Amino acid sequence: MTRIVFLGPPGAGKGTQAARLAAELGIPHLSTGDMLRAAVAQRTPLGLEAQGHIEAGRLVPDDLVLRILTERLGRPDARAGFVLDGFPRNLAQAERLEQITPLDLVVAFEIPAAQLVERLSGRRICPACQTVYHVTNRPPKVPGRCDFDGTELVQRPDDRPEAVRTRLAVYAQQTAPLVDHYTRRGLLRTLDATGSPEDVARRLRQLVG
Ligand code: AP5
Repeated sequence: MTRIVFLGPPGAGKGTQAARLAAELGIPHLSTGDMLRAAVAQRTPLGLEAQGHIEAGRLVPDDLVLRILTERLGRPDARAGFVLDGFPRNLAQAERLEQITPLDLVVAFEIPAAQLVERLSGRRICPACQTVYHVTNRPPKVPGRCDFDGTELVQRPDDRPEAVRTRLAVYAQQTAPLVDHYTRRGLLRTLDATGSPEDVARRLRQLVG
């Protein structure tokens, strides 16, 4: 059983590494960002309530995120473990998570702010299968098209510069204090998130064991 949380600023590469590690370990990649974006795309009541917060770069209210995450964690595939990416994002969420499941490891991604902005401004995603690309660091085989289904790639609305500024400030104020929280619980390991995705994946595998 491997229950891992990824903590780190926007653009640190959490989603890229979580998808990869989860596939290697045969456990699900649970991204609250992906779950919320799917709810927005499907225009569910929860998605409609979350949309404005996401696009402005603010956190979605805790009760909405908890509803979506609790349902997902309750599905059978999550019983073997999970890589949780994007949750918790504040102390209240961390305390609620402790009531839902124990954790084995929290990985804190560390990377200079300038690299975050470069990664976010070049990110493109497939709106159909959610695969993440980067215009220079991870380009698709055919420019602007998903390698897997040919769908036209798009930029996330919250990757616009003003939303990125808000997301970085929200991370510093609300999420970064969780590093101390999980250090005190003896769960935290830091990961150097600079370098190529392959370099980061190699370091991550050493941490996870
Ligand atoms: P979420 O989707 O979780 O976004 P985030 O945490 O801001 O993280 P990102 O997805 O931006 O970055 P990432 O670290 O996954 O990087 P990636 O691998 O894509 O949340 C979005 C919004 O949803 C929030 O703002 C909030 O509104 C809401 N939300 C979600 N969870 C919530 C919660 N718990 N509570 C309240 N609200 C919540 O990589 C970035 C780019 O860099 C890509 O283009 C990638 O190809 C490239 N890249 C990756 N690794 C490398 C590398 N090593 N070298 C070069 N390029 C790289």
